[in-house]
Amino acid sequence: MVNLAVKVGNLTLKNPFIAASGTYGFGREAAEFLDLSVWGGISSKGITRLPRAGNMPPRVAETPAGMLNSVGLQNPGVDKFIKDELPFMMEQDTVTIVNVAGSIPSDYIEICKKLEDTTTPAIELNFSCPNVAAGCMSFGADPANIESITRAIRDLTDKEIWVKLTPNITDISAAARAAEAGGADGVSLINTLLGMVIDAETRRPILRNNTGGLSGPAVKPVALRMVNEVYRAVNIPVIGLGGICSGLDAVEFMIAGASAVQLGTYNLISPQGITQVIDEFSQWLEDHGVQSPGELVGTLQLW
Ligand SMILES: Cc1cc2nc3c(=O)[nH]c(=O)nc-3n(C[C@H](O)[C@H](O)[C@H](O)COP(=O)(O)O)c2cc1C
Repeated sequence: MVNLAVKVGNLTLKNPFIAASGTYGFGREAAEFLDLSVWGGISSKGITRLPRAGNMPPRVAETPAGMLNSVGLQNPGVDKFIKDELPFMMEQDTVTIVNVAGSIPSDYIEICKKLEDTTTPAIELNFSCPNVAAGCMSFGADPANIESITRAIRDLTDKEIWVKLTPNITDISAAARAAEAGGADGVSLINTLLGMVIDAETRRPILRNNTGGLSGPAVKPVALRMVNEVYRAVNIPVIGLGGICSGLDAVEFMIAGASAVQLGTYNLISPQGITQVIDEFSQWLEDHGVQSPGELVGTLQLW
């Protein structure tokens, strides 16, 4: 049996697989039919300063090889999260990552200050949600903002800080370098790609928000390209995601440069699928004489 443990900055994960933010809630629903300890880590739904009801429905739509969502950061707000949800996450035998979102820079600071009173080891700063009217993705489009907000969070915490990057940008390497300059311990990418689905009969977008974020297998080639580009641009770990549905997909992301990977939409397609994905991954390593996942990271040979 291959030892699947990976180190991502100062965190050790028992395997490279993390449940992606927004596709797993706080793990409660999945825990009814799956042992959450199979995961290397779980990233919480995006947490905001105040509770949010999210966008009006319809807020999800299927697309060829993927889906579009415009959930709009529905969550209980940081206080209720810390009181009612985080203890459940921390009880699980897996690493908890708290995904933090905001409309203005001070939102991130206020939330992270509150998280200082908790034992969560890691924070994922979501500068990339495309489905809210103000902030979030607009911070992620400007490297100067990424750097300054990351720096402000770095100054108040010793927890691991990952910056989640938006793909809705021309130069994702510049965004990653800004996160590194601000003191981030890692960058996670990609969040969803902004898209639209249209009903020709009504001549209206299907999503009530008009636009939404595309995820699932359709985005995988974009994500792989960006993971490799960012891997070559920074010296901090890259956490890769976007369309991963199999052990082989995860192998490809690690070859591209990811130290760990996240599974999002696949949890909605196959809620228990993670177990098989880990088995496939482990088998691939064994079949290829790879002793540990870390040996794969960044081994892509560009032409
Ligand atoms: C329904 C849904 C809700 C999401 N909510 C969040 C969120 O709250 N915070 C975040 O950083 N990403 C969120 N995401 C983005 C995912 O974490 C992930 O970056 C993206 O879906 C690409 O990965 P995938 O193709 O494996 O799903 C959400 C994605 C989906 C499908």
